[in-house]
Amino acid sequence: MIDRNIYDVIVIGSGIAGLNVANSLRDKKVLVVCKENSWDCNTFYAQGGIAVPVDESDINSHIEDTISAGAGLCDRKAVRVLCEDGLRAVRDLIDRGCPFDRNEKGEILYTKEAAHSRNRIIHSGGDATGREVHRFLMSENKSGLLYNSTVTELLIEDDICHGVRVWHNNELRNYYAKAVVIASGGVGSIYEYHTNSKTISGELQGICLEKGLELRDMQMMQFHPTVFIHSLGARKQLLTEALRGEGAHIVDADGKRFLFEYDDRGELSPRSLVSRAIFEHKKKSGKEVYLDLSMFDKEFFKKRFPTIYFNLKDLGYNLPEDRVPISPAFHYAMGGIKTDLDGRVSGMKNLYAVGEVANTRVHGANRLASNSLLEGLVFSKRAVENIKKEKFDFEIKEFDLKEETLIKSGDKEIKNELRKLMWESAGIVRSRAKLENTLIKIDSFLDRDIGKFLKLRLKTSRNIVKSTIYQKESLGACYIID
Ligand code: SIN
Repeated sequence: MIDRNIYDVIVIGSGIAGLNVANSLRDKKVLVVCKENSWDCNTFYAQGGIAVPVDESDINSHIEDTISAGAGLCDRKAVRVLCEDGLRAVRDLIDRGCPFDRNEKGEILYTKEAAHSRNRIIHSGGDATGREVHRFLMSENKSGLLYNSTVTELLIEDDICHGVRVWHNNELRNYYAKAVVIASGGVGSIYEYHTNSKTISGELQGICLEKGLELRDMQMMQFHPTVFIHSLGARKQLLTEALRGEGAHIVDADGKRFLFEYDDRGELSPRSLVSRAIFEHKKKSGKEVYLDLSMFDKEFFKKRFPTIYFNLKDLGYNLPEDRVPISPAFHYAMGGIKTDLDGRVSGMKNLYAVGEVANTRVHGANRLASNSLLEGLVFSKRAVENIKKEKFDFEIKEFDLKEETLIKSGDKEIKNELRKLMWESAGIVRSRAKLENTLIKIDSFLDRDIGKFLKLRLKTSRNIVKSTIYQKESLGACYIID
């Protein structure tokens, strides 16, 4: 039985980082574990693009922009790796045939996003970059894909990871491998309003906590400033930063561009500042804040931003004429599983984490726009190089199939309450009193008779709340008012 379930590498997650690992290990037996379908990942919903140095002479400027957005918490070495390896990785992606938008001369188009000192964001399908990149990586993929499968456990003994336990078709199975790569994304579903795939809920981070592995910078949660939140469904409609890069304005109910009262870069201030300004302005005025797109020519808009045009049309908006009410919403976790620059999880053999789930301090306290797909590409490749060099000098150990209850009847209500609590206390503006209250509530939920999946979510949430309480003063995306 065990032989059938042994792989060279198991990858958890099918976003850019996970698929890039699988596609770079063609000569190995690789299994990609997907919680639902392969496209239920954050990569698929990325709109704006991939930030990349335009050429060698732009590397230092991209590094400085990333570090400046990161508010002092970036690891300079990690940022250098991101930008230097990133240029090579994106050129390789283009050479392999991944389609990026080009002008009539066939040259790649670069757009601008907040806090970049120049145009360096490449995009695909207008505002469908993630979907197009994902489609391309799936077309290259030759590995096995295990759908509708949630990882419930890392199989660890004596600080060696031997595989994963997976919930699939209502049964638990153990899968073994010489290397396990976690590429499962961030924590979106623990917040009431978010832009993430509904499958992203911080369970792997919770498993790592249970195994005594370190999560770092979990107080650093990023909120995207321009999200349409008045729609049904857990995932809210992102309105890409590229809209502002191309000239869209943020206005109050009277049409005033109020962001300049907060920062003289206005709409192109770093994401954390714009999110906070919108949040505070709405609170102060008691009125909506809007994205004004009326400066765009209609035909240009439909071609450049087709996803937004058609999604908002379905919701009754006629773009670019109608202004769209916006709110910040949870978007990206800078904090994650602590790894080195080769994706190795600190303190564990054969275990890697790459992409959003990992923390290399490449983004510091506030990720620069469109650096996340680049991160996925770069650090997955480095993990692969490391896996190729690794000597697997151990016997794979077989683990018992431990039965555990994954979901219990009252879990859903607690999940919903948790989302509200996290949004209100560990959101854009945080107060210690609310955080302490959330901590008490989370501990009381953990004392109840709950399923394992909820327990893992709660543990990850608890870590975010605790890390925020430990944070002495506001920094980047972590803004504390007392
Ligand atoms: C966006 O398109 O605004 C999102 C890009 C990102 O998350 O960096």
